[in-house]
Amino acid sequence: MDLSTHYLGLELKNPIIVGSSGLTGSVEKVIQAEHHGAGAVVLKSIFEEEVALAYAEFMKTAKSVAGETPYFDYDGRRSPIEYYDYVIREENLKKYVSLIEASKKAVSIPVMASINCFLGSVEWMSYARHLEAAGADALELNMFFPPTDFTKTRADKESIYFKVTEEVTKNLSIPTALKISHYFTDLGPMIQRLSRTGIGGLVLFNRYFSPDIDIDRLEVTNGFVFSTPSDLAMSLRWIAIMAEKVDCDLVASTGIHDGAAVIKQLLAGASAVQVASCLYKNGLAYLEEMLGGLERWMTENRFMGINSFKGKMSQAKSTDPSVYERVQFMKYYGGRKNVAV
Ligand SMILES: Cc1cc2nc3c(=O)[nH]c(=O)nc-3n(C[C@H](O)[C@H](O)[C@H](O)COP(=O)(O)O)c2cc1C
Repeated sequence: MDLSTHYLGLELKNPIIVGSSGLTGSVEKVIQAEHHGAGAVVLKSIFEEEVALAYAEFMKTAKSVAGETPYFDYDGRRSPIEYYDYVIREENLKKYVSLIEASKKAVSIPVMASINCFLGSVEWMSYARHLEAAGADALELNMFFPPTDFTKTRADKESIYFKVTEEVTKNLSIPTALKISHYFTDLGPMIQRLSRTGIGGLVLFNRYFSPDIDIDRLEVTNGFVFSTPSDLAMSLRWIAIMAEKVDCDLVASTGIHDGAAVIKQLLAGASAVQVASCLYKNGLAYLEEMLGGLERWMTENRFMGINSFKGKMSQAKSTDPSVYERVQFMKYYGGRKNVAV
């Protein structure tokens, strides 16, 4: 049985990628992911924001200890504290570059790096160059500007996605993918336009930290960290709708918790899938069970390779394309009775 697939021009031995998360934050875990059968890994993102937060934290402690504007020793010189964020950034980058280099040495599956920056395309580009030089096989841009900024227009906010993606894609020689959220006003056309920026792949969709409220302690807590199998619905619908409307690969992410969910996403038109929550819950060895499910189903249905069924159930190929756009619960739809109403 041939489970291999192509994503970003890379050959993956199977379509299950361990998504960017704590599961790919160390060489040991990357080795485990390969050992249990992962087709590729996307390393935990390097966050520009962490530099800013570490800097703010340092300033707080430094001030409370010294009671005056702190200085630190940099390159043998006494330099003003303003340089400190630069040093934290370099330290962060150095650690990430070592993670890429060590992972590349330790495993033979593709190792993709992932970055998340603030708005400026200069920073995205600068990080991207370092990660490419470290030997990453591909780069994933984990890009999300929360739609909570009331000072900019929608067009201004959207233009940043294009500016960064076009610049990074144009200037790197390794393939790049863009991982996005579904928080766009005009999601279908937006995905299509993004697919035409020269990007190799789009990851639909990222999952974000969400706050919850503890009603006994009246505190905001870290809630809903992991997805559930029903979270599959959003990415499944959009992979199916967009499969034949984009000029790049599509990779499904969110709510893929078993072999059946992998098969559904491939049928919808995904080139590969990314998983995180189900591996947090069941351990990396669970990859073997998911792969077993995929292989059994392919055998039973006499599909010898992924390409023989990839996209077979996309909206474009579906006998009932309207079902993917149906959103209201009505008594009848598409000539069928909706039993849940
Ligand atoms: C604990 C945790 C940490 C994550 N860290 C990152 C990250 O650093 N970068 C990123 O792009 N996505 C990150 N993600 C998102 C995952 O890569 C994935 O896209 C998301 O969880 C949806 O997939 P799932 O339903 O299989 O969890 C994280 C997810 C979780 C649960």
